[in-house]
Parts: sequence; structure tokens; C-alpha cells
Amino acid sequence: MQAGKLFDLKGQVAVVTGAASGLGLAITKTLAANGAHVALLDLNSETLAAAYQWVNGQGFSAESHQVDVSDSEALRKTIDGIAERHGHLDILVANAGISGGPNSRTEAGAIENVSDELWNKVVDVNLTATFVAIQSAAKHMKKQRQGRIVAIASIAGLRADPMTGYAYASSKGAVVNLVRQAAWELAPYNVLVNGIAPGPFRTNIAGGRIREPEVEKAFADTVPLGRIAETDEIMGLALLLSSKASSFMTGTVIPIDGGTVAI
Ligand SMILES: NC(=O)c1ccc[n+]([C@@H]2O[C@H](COP(=O)([O-])OP(=O)(O)OC[C@H]3O[C@@H](n4cnc5c(N)ncnc54)[C@H](O)[C@@H]3O)[C@@H](O)[C@H]2O)c1
Repeated sequence: MQAGKLFDLKGQVAVVTGAASGLGLAITKTLAANGAHVALLDLNSETLAAAYQWVNGQGFSAESHQVDVSDSEALRKTIDGIAERHGHLDILVANAGISGGPNSRTEAGAIENVSDELWNKVVDVNLTATFVAIQSAAKHMKKQRQGRIVAIASIAGLRADPMTGYAYASSKGAVVNLVRQAAWELAPYNVLVNGIAPGPFRTNIAGGRIREPEVEKAFADTVPLGRIAETDEIMGLALLLSSKASSFMTGTVIPIDGGTVAI
């Protein structure tokens, strides 16, 4: 293997869910810039159109699909369609996710006040849709005997989290073990499955609350590096786990969190 080719994704087809904003958009940009044809999937038609136009405008290869990932049938059909049209699917980044309401030490976030509606909505998008995306991609990747799957978990899934609530922390904890289970099954097929566990990043999650100065400070105070991250800081790890550079890595979930889970 030539060292210069480790991150080369030319000729590969990638699917990114939640590609229109935040971490998904940054990941889309890095996969496309390194040569992959990227299928952008998102619920929000306006931001999806803008993201697609940006990627296309750079001369990168892309397509876009408006889909609600919590609609399992629609998600399966979309991923099957992409794989079948291109004849292969090489990379899946299961990134779409939503916040889970107030943190568990607030009155609204306390265990007795977590509604079924909130719980089900968060689990549907963060966990079930991640499973369905992996299931759909794995079907094609197993046949090819090759593929890379990256799931976006959270440091809220690695230990009790002071900044989020029950539904979010539980859904992300389950994504961490979903990664391990899929990695174990799919290893004999050379389909590698890994996770990324971000700490706080400046995105539009929870309506962009993290951009409010006092909210940003509260998050930054939990981080040894003393700040939240910019979205582009996800690019290097996402590219590593999507490329040949990670050929002996599977079943890992890597924090990218300014040192937060180290303490
Ligand atoms: N921002 C952070 O601090 C942080 C930290 C840890 C983990 N994460 C995770 O990163 C991932 C990306 O979040 P982000 O922070 O970039 O948020 P974001 O809101 O900026 O982007 C999420 C994207 O997912 C899309 N989306 C949401 N629900 C969808 C659905 N049902 N179907 C299709 N698309 C849908 C949104 O339209 C949006 O474009 C999520 O899984 C989130 O839990 C974020």
C-alpha cells in the first residue's frame, strides 16, 4: 500500500445520513473531497438542497435524497436504490441524530418527567434508524465482501452524561454496542464497523442552542481543552474510519472530545 493512497476514496460510493448540516455536512465534504461519490440523505429539503449545491459546485460527485430516516421502509428503499444503481456501496456514515431534551438533573429532564413521546422519537431517530441504515448497507457490503460503516454515537453513550437526558444517553449507549455487534458479525466479510463518539461540537443540534454563549460556556467547562469543537474537526477521524487507512480497525468507538472522557 502506497502511503499517499491511504485516504484516496476515488471510485467509491458513500451514503451519509443527516448530511445537510453539522457533522454530517463536514463528513460529506471530506469524503467528496477525497474522491468518493456521496449520496446525501436528510429530512430537511432546504438545507439538503444547499448542501448538495455546495458539494456539486466544488466539482465533487454527489446526489441527494430527502428522506426521514425514522421511516424504516423509506430508508431501506433509498439505500437499496443507491447501491443497485451504482452497482456497489462502499461507505455508510450513519450520522443523523437529534437531541434528547433537557439534562437529567433538571426538573423537566428528571426520570419521572421523560415522556413516552420524547423517548420514542429519540430512540427512533438515534438508534432504530442507525440500525436500519447499517442493516441496509450491510446487505450489499456482505455480498461485495468489502465495506466501511461509521456510526456517529456520542460521549453521552460512553458514560453518564451531565449535559443530556435519558433518551439521548440511552440511545447513544445502544449505538456503541450496535457498532460492536455489527463489527463482530461482519468481520469475516471484510466489512469494518466503527463508531465516533463526539463531545460538544458547534452544530445546529437542538436548534443550535450550543451557539448561545452561556450554553457554549457550560459545555466548554466540561472539556479539558476548554472549548467546544468546530464541525470541520470531525473530518480527519471520519476520513480515517471510511478509508483504507483503518484496514485493521473494527468494533471501536473513538471519542473526539477534547479529553472529556479521560477525566
Ligand atoms: N453537536 C454535538 O455536539 C454532538 C455531540 C455528540 C454527538 N453528536 C451527534 O452527531 C450527529 C449529527 O448531529 P449534529 O450535531 O451535526 O446536528 P445537526 O442538527 O447540525 O445535523 C443533524 C442533521 O440530521 C438531520 N436529521 C435529523 N433528523 C432526521 C431524520 N429523521 N431523517 C433524516 N435526517 C434527519 C437534520 O435535518 C440535520 O441536517 C447526531 O447523531 C448527534 O447525536 C453531536
